[in-house]
Amino acid sequence: MTVDLVVRNCTVVTPAGRTPDAGVAVEDDTIVAVGRSDRLPEADRVLDAEGNVLVPGIVDCHIHNREPGLEYKEDWESATRAAAAGGVTTVVGMPNTDPVIDRPDHLELKFERGEASAHVDFQSYAVVTSENLDLIPEIDETGALGFKIFLGSTVGDVPPPNDGEILEAMERIGETGKRLGFHEENGEIIEHYTKRFKADGRNEPIDHSHSRPVIAEQEAVERMITFAEETDAKIHMFHVSSGSAAEAVARGKDQGVDVTAETTPHYLWFTEDVMHEKGNVARVQPPIRDAEERETLWDVGIDQGAIDCIATDHAPHTPTEKKVDDPFGNTWDAISGFVGLETEIPVMLSFVDQGRLTLEEWVRRHSTRPAQVWGMYPQKGSLQVGTDADFTIVDPDREWTLADRTELHSKNCVTPFEGETFTGKAIATVVRGDVVAEDGTVVGESGYGTRVDVD
Ligand code: DOR
Ligand code: ZN
Repeated sequence: MTVDLVVRNCTVVTPAGRTPDAGVAVEDDTIVAVGRSDRLPEADRVLDAEGNVLVPGIVDCHIHNREPGLEYKEDWESATRAAAAGGVTTVVGMPNTDPVIDRPDHLELKFERGEASAHVDFQSYAVVTSENLDLIPEIDETGALGFKIFLGSTVGDVPPPNDGEILEAMERIGETGKRLGFHEENGEIIEHYTKRFKADGRNEPIDHSHSRPVIAEQEAVERMITFAEETDAKIHMFHVSSGSAAEAVARGKDQGVDVTAETTPHYLWFTEDVMHEKGNVARVQPPIRDAEERETLWDVGIDQGAIDCIATDHAPHTPTEKKVDDPFGNTWDAISGFVGLETEIPVMLSFVDQGRLTLEEWVRRHSTRPAQVWGMYPQKGSLQVGTDADFTIVDPDREWTLADRTELHSKNCVTPFEGETFTGKAIATVVRGDVVAEDGTVVGESGYGTRVDVD
């Protein structure tokens, strides 16, 4: 038998373990064999991975692709170009676009735009507000991956529903079988401190961080867990930034609530000192926390398992919006968020290199669990025979520095990771059997990416 593609001579790593001198065989867009290199079939195309590491395609369930409506920041094409270059095979877009993704026709528009231009596979969340509770079944049928509620104000100013509406949303989403994720910051706490700090002339980048204290995140996690216990909803905590919030997630799991959680590379890598070093470039919501919170996030979140997933919260803005020319200027004039798709694998592999987590644990959190949490497994997030031939090949030993952010592929590339040095990089990205990027160069076609179908 001759298949379309064989990748050989790699260490294949899944959450279950690693196999050296192994590889993967692909026919059409599907995995047909995984195993020792010398036992794989003949192929029309053979890729020699030169001893590097092959993992199931990396799945990033939290990106702001900005399309429709905010294409001056980013669009499906540029976001998924960055994904392909960075080694990410599936992305899920956030709904704070223009229009916001709160109706079936808006979701359809987002999907159509993705089908037209994406380089890698994609999906989207729909937002729940006070206005669209009745539309939840129809949004579900239109194919949303899941739902999101913004509990506190953030970029896009999507107004939070009240607690009664949230309870009802949990019940209605429960009937669809899908999961509801949160931007979990208590809106009243952050509004109060933002007003207070502005009035007091506290305008430094670190003041933005302190205006959104850990308790605002922790309380929001705890309240949503209480509501989910009542309604039996499946809930998810996006971008957990603090150890205290990770501890709250762990308590929810112990209580038997179906609560999953994600953190991002930036909360694991930086401490709030970065606000003094890089200023508003590192401004993000929720903010980057102090060293003690970061330590607990590692301990309870990663080592003890409260955090299921790694995702970027890739959030491109223009250099003007980020105030890069004056990064220590008035923080209230700058916007929150920065890109991450091309640094997420290097950050996580650097942690592997430092011995902070194993390759297996990295793959579990960056591919398998995200796919499972959002209902895409095993089509995505696995190397099982018969599933999509998505994989990422990484060189775990490659040392490099992101010397200049314009090396990145997004439309706007401001990131606090500019100037940081990493050990590890994606060297090939394969989506449904097609190589879409090689050594940081995108070789796939715009429009190849397709929506991941979920029931
Ligand atoms: O910093 C952030 N940026 N936090 C969010 O919640 C939204 C995001 C964005 O859309 O830019
Ligand atoms: Zn986000």
